[in-house]
Amino acid sequence: MKDMTELQFKVQAKGVKKHFHSQDGRVVHAIDNVTLDVGEGEFVALLGPSGCGKSTFLFMVAGFEQPSAGTLTLDGEEIREPGPNRGIVFQEYVLFPWRTVKKNIEFGLEIKKISKAERDEKCRDLIHLVGLAGFEDAYPHTLSGGMKQRVSIARALAYDPDVLLMDEPFGALDAQTRRRMIADLVKVHEATKKTFLFVTHSVDEAIGLADRICLFSARPSIIKQEYKVSVPRPRNVTSDEFVQLEREILESLDVEVEKMMHLDRK
Ligand SMILES: Nc1ncnc2c1ncn2[C@@H]1O[C@H](COP(=O)(O)OP(=O)(O)OP(=O)(O)O)[C@@H](O)[C@H]1O
Ligand SMILES: [Mg+2]
Repeated sequence: MKDMTELQFKVQAKGVKKHFHSQDGRVVHAIDNVTLDVGEGEFVALLGPSGCGKSTFLFMVAGFEQPSAGTLTLDGEEIREPGPNRGIVFQEYVLFPWRTVKKNIEFGLEIKKISKAERDEKCRDLIHLVGLAGFEDAYPHTLSGGMKQRVSIARALAYDPDVLLMDEPFGALDAQTRRRMIADLVKVHEATKKTFLFVTHSVDEAIGLADRICLFSARPSIIKQEYKVSVPRPRNVTSDEFVQLEREILESLDVEVEKMMHLDRK
């Protein structure tokens, strides 16, 4: 049964914990306690040191992993498995090399047995939205990293999911391409009004994109701090507000990175 008082939130995590049993028999406590409400249409960035559990959290929202304790819901319903209401974009470019840009994007639509006319129309819109017009018939090996990620984003959007889950999608791109991708993803968010959960290591990427930033602590992680990003859009990385927030978050993040380095040495 849906709890009607909680429906204004798209994704809700309450006291979520996650531990793993490693191959050598040890227990890895990845997430200690994460409580987070994500509003419909909100863009939330998850930031934290390497190994703190950001991907683990995202994978639980995706339904690939289950929390060890606590509850995780989407539209008030407990998340038990993956579903087409969540689109995922990873750091690696997971495209079909034998399919063109258009064919990659429409893969999910073919599975859903959507008619060719409807597929064509949807693909045309998505290709424009992600800035790939003119590359419809190109194969992935002929594309740059940024363009491949544009295809991945369009493909994730093709299912018309409510929530977009992105795990360091720009992590492998050069700084210049990354800046363009950030600006364009802001436009995608504005145009689609979907809910975004975006994992990143990069403070400036998080500030450039998000309505709110959740800073994860060292493992076993909690959300150490949340930052509402009120820097006016379009966000200028050199503006005083941007730089001030960046410094504040970096100082807090560095403390957690340091803690993780001690953990990893143990
Ligand atoms: N399937 C698994 N089995 C065992 N341990 C795991 C598993 N998945 C994740 N872990 C451990 O859980 C912790 C959190 O991993 P996770 O990949 O979520 O971190 P992360 O914050 O995404 O790191 P990064 O920024 O480097 O991607 C790590 O110690 C990792 O080794
Ligand atoms: Mg990760």
